[in-house]
Amino acid sequence: MPAPIPVTAALGVAALGYTTVIERNWFALRRFDIPVLPPGSGPLRVLHISDAHLTPGRKRLMSWIRSLDDLDPHLVVNTGDSISHPESVRYFLDALGPLLDRPGVFVLGSNDMYAPKPFNPARYLWGPSSRWHERKSPDLPWEKLRDDMAAAGWLDLNNQRGRLAVGGLDIALAGVHDSHIKKARYDQVAGQADPAADLRVGVMHSPEPRLLDQFTADGYELLLAGHTHGGQLCLPFYGTLVTNCGIDRERARGLHRNPADGQAWLHVSAGLGTSPWAPARFACRPEASLLTLVPRDSG
Ligand SMILES: [Fe+2]
Repeated sequence: MPAPIPVTAALGVAALGYTTVIERNWFALRRFDIPVLPPGSGPLRVLHISDAHLTPGRKRLMSWIRSLDDLDPHLVVNTGDSISHPESVRYFLDALGPLLDRPGVFVLGSNDMYAPKPFNPARYLWGPSSRWHERKSPDLPWEKLRDDMAAAGWLDLNNQRGRLAVGGLDIALAGVHDSHIKKARYDQVAGQADPAADLRVGVMHSPEPRLLDQFTADGYELLLAGHTHGGQLCLPFYGTLVTNCGIDRERARGLHRNPADGQAWLHVSAGLGTSPWAPARFACRPEASLLTLVPRDSG
C-alpha cells in the first residue's frame, strides 16, 4: 500500500532540508599523501580548493574557507568556478583572507564568467552543461577576480606556464582555461615540462580526458582539476551518477592515476559549493583537499 500523502510530503521536506541545508554546509577536508617528490625532499602541503560558486549570503562557506589557513599549506591551488554573483569577488577574496598571503595558482571556470541562470537540475542527467551555453558575452567580473588574485601574488595559469619556488622545491606548472566552454588552449602550453624541476604540475578546471592525456604526455606528474562537483547528487554505495564532462565517473572525485594504469597522479576536487539554482548535495559533501606531497618510492 502506498504511503499516505502526509507521510510522503514529510519525507520530501526532510530530504529537501537535508540536501539543501545540512549536507550543503557539511564541509569535509579530504587528506591524501601523494608520492610524487624526488627522494629526500618534502613533504609539501598543497591545499586544493575549487568550485566555491560563492554568493554573498554563504557565510558558513566563507568562514570555513578562511579556516583552511590553519592547515599551513605551502601552496594553494584554485581550480575555478569561484563565484556565482556579480558582487562575489570581494566576498571570495575576503574568505581566502590569509591564504592570499601564501603562494598560490589559479585557473578560471565558466561560472567565473557567466552568471547562473535558472535551470532544471535534472538536465545534468541528459548531458554536459556545456551544451546549454548560448551566451556570448561574460556577465560576471572575471577580470577583477583574475586581477585581484594575481595582485595578491597568485600565478594565473589560464593557458599559461609558470614556475614557483615553494617549500625548498622548484615547481614547473602549466594550466588551461575551461575546456567546458572551449577556452582551453593546450597548444599555448604544449611541450615537454622541464625535467630539471623538482615537480611538474598541470592545472585545469574541467578534467577532460584529452587534456589529462596531453599533460601526462608532456611529463606533468600531478594533475589538479575541479568542475565535476563529484556528481553533486550521488547514490550511496554507487557514487557519482554524472560527471558533466568526458571523464569516467569512477574518477570524478578524489585521487587516481592518469591514465588509469599510468604514472601521473590526478586529483579531482568535488568542490566547495553548488550553483545557486541547484543548491543541493547528497552523498557528496562539499570539500577542500590537503594534498601532502611526499617522496616517490626509490625502489
Ligand atoms: Fe562548478
